[in-house]
Amino acid sequence: MVRSSGSYYSALKRITRAANSAYGLRKTCNFIAKNSARAMKANGCRILSLNPRREYLISVGTYGLSDLYLKKGPLDARRSLPDILEGKAVYIADATRDDRVQHPEVALEQGISSILGVPILRMGEAIGEIRIYARERRQFSEAERNFLFSVADVCSVVFERAELQQSLDGDREARARQRRPSPVSAVPVPTLRPATFAHPSEEDFARLLDFYCIEWLYEPRSFALRWEGGKIAEMFTPDFYLPELDIYVELTTLKQNLITEKNRKLRQLRELYPEVNVRLLTKSDFHKLLAKYGYGPLGEAKVEGVDRVLYSHAQIQRRVRTLARRISRDYGDERLVLIGVLKGVLCFMADLMQHLSLPVTVDFMAVSHYGGDGQVVRITRDLDSSIAGKHVLMVEDIVDTGMTLNYILGHLSAHNPASLRVCTLLDKRARRLLDLPLDYVGFEIPDEFVVGYGLDYKGEYRNLPFIGVLKPGLVKNEEPR
Ligand code: PRP
Repeated sequence: MVRSSGSYYSALKRITRAANSAYGLRKTCNFIAKNSARAMKANGCRILSLNPRREYLISVGTYGLSDLYLKKGPLDARRSLPDILEGKAVYIADATRDDRVQHPEVALEQGISSILGVPILRMGEAIGEIRIYARERRQFSEAERNFLFSVADVCSVVFERAELQQSLDGDREARARQRRPSPVSAVPVPTLRPATFAHPSEEDFARLLDFYCIEWLYEPRSFALRWEGGKIAEMFTPDFYLPELDIYVELTTLKQNLITEKNRKLRQLRELYPEVNVRLLTKSDFHKLLAKYGYGPLGEAKVEGVDRVLYSHAQIQRRVRTLARRISRDYGDERLVLIGVLKGVLCFMADLMQHLSLPVTVDFMAVSHYGGDGQVVRITRDLDSSIAGKHVLMVEDIVDTGMTLNYILGHLSAHNPASLRVCTLLDKRARRLLDLPLDYVGFEIPDEFVVGYGLDYKGEYRNLPFIGVLKPGLVKNEEPR
């Protein structure tokens, strides 16, 4: 049915009024989506924003689409209607058979046939998209396309206003994202807070990921776990997806009895989707993570001293000599550049280099530490000499979550070394978030807070000649696991 231009005008009037209201971003976009779909006699609408690296499309407003459809998985911007990135409209007649649709099976299940998408532009470059969905197979008229392009222009202004508001509100995350340069375009891409977090710990975790420049998407996919009579009876939606690392992370702030239920779902998810990599961070895992940076309830606890020695000075020395022998044998006559990240590595580096029987040079880097203040990780001291074409061994005192190592390895490989390996004295594998290959490991240690032999707690304890575990007083606020 062809609508009169008057009905598009009325819809546009409602939309511009909402855009100029005091509504928040999500409410405004949901309103725009609803009025756009209704004006075009369509079944659904979705407003998406490109993430700062222009790789993924993130939902900021929807109408008429099921949760299953909305959380069908991360939307890769280059695969998903790539013409949008070029600033062109895209029309799909049959979503269940079109190669450009990333999840045709969900479109089929949801009964979606035709899709019209138009770019949301800022200074001529795509920063997002508005999509209209129809159950029946249909064409879209010239008037409908023009209407949708006008709505997209309104969305662009809505995005800009929300960004301004977020930065005026002192949104640390938004500011951090603004500082991050886009590798593709000079046009600033949206720095909108992409999610309304269900829990403050999720926001803290997002900040920590932002600090280490680890890209994340919030709840992009729901996994069906149980079906009854052909219908989905149970689903599970992990909190975060880290696309570069292909890991889903579920944070839980629940008590132990509820964690048991969550563990059951995770086990089921792993059985049904063996290709999916998913990690659970419990409340105590998460508090330990924040405590490491001196934040959160544990970080504020009073340090009461060392509880017990984990590795004596003699044990450390024996292990360091074994590692040095292995490294010397593996590199043979090659020259090697040892790179350490200050400060924790100082004791280990000093001992290790003395036992290497090959020509080595040594260099150090330093990175800024997480302060929960919206900054992103920075290299505060870079290498003195070029490593291009050289064999490099990155030396660490401890690999915990792997976020520091991930960042440093990314930086070093960009300088084209001939080879790049990792040697760490301690491997706290139980807490690993990002799994990176470690070539030489001194000790795999339990999930306890360790200090000494270079490792600190709030700047102290580095001078202990052994590696010790901090007294449980540090973890006294913790709930039993
Ligand atoms: C330690 C260590 C690693 C990092 C590992 O440094 O030296 O660089 O933590 O942790 P991750 O795997 O969770 O990223 P820290 O931040 O304590 O600074 P420091 O070396 O100055 O003590």
